[in-house]
Amino acid sequence: MTQELMKERVRELAREKDALVIAHYYCVPDVHDAADFVGDSLGLSQEARKSDKKLIVFCGVHFMAETAAILCPDKTVILANPDAGCPMADMITAEALAARKEELGEGVAVLTYVNSPANVKALSDICCTSANAVAVMRSLPQRRILMTPDKNLTAHVARQIPEKEVLSWPGFCPTHHRIKEKELMELKDKHPEALVLAHPECREKILREAHFVGSTSGIINKVAQSDREEFIVLTEEGVLYPMRKNNPGKVFLTPETPMICPNMKKNSLEDIERALLDPDPPAVRVPEEIRIPALRAVERMLAAPRD
Ligand code: 13P
Ligand code: SF4
Repeated sequence: MTQELMKERVRELAREKDALVIAHYYCVPDVHDAADFVGDSLGLSQEARKSDKKLIVFCGVHFMAETAAILCPDKTVILANPDAGCPMADMITAEALAARKEELGEGVAVLTYVNSPANVKALSDICCTSANAVAVMRSLPQRRILMTPDKNLTAHVARQIPEKEVLSWPGFCPTHHRIKEKELMELKDKHPEALVLAHPECREKILREAHFVGSTSGIINKVAQSDREEFIVLTEEGVLYPMRKNNPGKVFLTPETPMICPNMKKNSLEDIERALLDPDPPAVRVPEEIRIPALRAVERMLAAPRD
């Protein structure tokens, strides 16, 4: 079967099963084409919640499907490829966070990036995504804040709110962390007119060289609004597909080191088909004793403004 026929088949099956297929921008282009909605992690959580469909096929990584399951206990959420995890989310555990909280004592708020396991969210006061991290941090009344698990996002947020004392966790995203200053500087020298757009999971030295730092959707919107012709894109390459489709005259440049998240790329059309055909698909479930406190942290985040 051709990929085009396969996309048709997946869309037809989703209609038959009355399912919602949602995909993160970092998934492969064929998955974007087959999905009902493509977005960043905040947009996907919101889309899952507002949908009236009872079955959600999530093309992304485990923590994203888990966040949808926290928000939608009445729906069945299936991760298209159950092997798609996030190494950054695996850099923190509930046990380690509980020990750190104990060490820090009272009066320290815990702000956790959604790229984390449900039981870590459950121990946190509030969550954030890269689209609202600064606004969420500002909304907290406490002065001392432990932000987990991404040290790069934490440093980026802390720089903008010097009045807070921000404590960090040593996690990072291997896909964004690996970009080297040297290759960025070479690209900038070759393309001095290019606008540099970076995701806050990149290292501080990279973010200092960027003209705009934002979430996946923030970067995509910036390109659409800008009258520049050239852009240096410092985030996962999946964003290039919608950028090129929606901005035909513009040029997108990327660093020599490929920014590819191997886990996001695991989600295929065949996985979506398998999930939709399975009469008893392996749903992502969060036990109620974890879901309820995790929901409180995620709902506080959803009530906060975007950056
Ligand atoms: P967004 O919040 O921009 O969707 O990013 C999620 C993510 O995993 C980035 O690596
Ligand atoms: Fe996790 Fe990085 Fe992949 Fe995002 S790009 S899902 S943070 S490994």
